Amino acid sequence: MEPKRSTTLRFLAEPGHVNFGGKVHGGQVMKWIDQVGYAAAAAYTGSYCVTVWVGGIHFMKPLRVGWIIEMIATVIHTGRTSLHIAVDIYGGDPRSPSMERSGHCVIVFVALDDDGKPTLVPPWTPQNPFDEALEAYAVRLMALRRGMEEEMAKTLHLGPDPSVLPPP
Ligand SMILES: CC(C)(COP(=O)(O)OP(=O)(O)OC[C@H]1O[C@@H](n2cnc3c(N)ncnc32)[C@H](O)[C@@H]1OP(=O)(O)O)[C@@H](O)C(=O)NCCC(=O)NCCS
Repeated sequence: MEPKRSTTLRFLAEPGHVNFGGKVHGGQVMKWIDQVGYAAAAAYTGSYCVTVWVGGIHFMKPLRVGWIIEMIATVIHTGRTSLHIAVDIYGGDPRSPSMERSGHCVIVFVALDDDGKPTLVPPWTPQNPFDEALEAYAVRLMALRRGMEEEMAKTLHLGPDPSVLPPP
């Protein structure tokens, strides 16, 4: 049987999820992103998975308390032990049939064996031009990330002490 590539979770945004501006708190949305990503990674691999990277979260539109929030997580690239999952976020009033896209990000998970060591994931192959474009996107993000990590490594050790200057 083919591994399950896509997982959808729906949540109801409750009054306890509100931020100081009256919309759904960004931290809550990030928790839902991680939950749907984990559910998709575990379903696809059949293994326990951990998040190693979450990036470029775009909050395109605010989500409102009382709305249904739909999170769709889809495998878009697999490595040896890692898998890249695109998460797309939609929200809408349950009284209306329409939902609007409100965010997107890509998460990288690693599958772990029973000893907590990275373990092989089932390889995923794009099936059509749309899949190919998504995989190419995941690969481009990986390259950009390497550049970002090099840049951050130069400054990570500094901490908040203003007497220690960053490298030129
Ligand atoms: C997951 C973990 C066990 C992997 O250990 P590791 O020593 O980095 O293992 P490896 O070097 O073999 O890397 C495993 C895979 O992760 C990928 N990976 C590791 N760090 C990554 C990063 N920052 N971004 C993207 N991929 C990454 C590697 O490319 C490799 O993928 P591949 O096998 O498909 O080529 C370790 O990084 C870990 O425990 N991290 C903490 C996870 C966690 O606690 N998450 C919750 C945070 S709130």
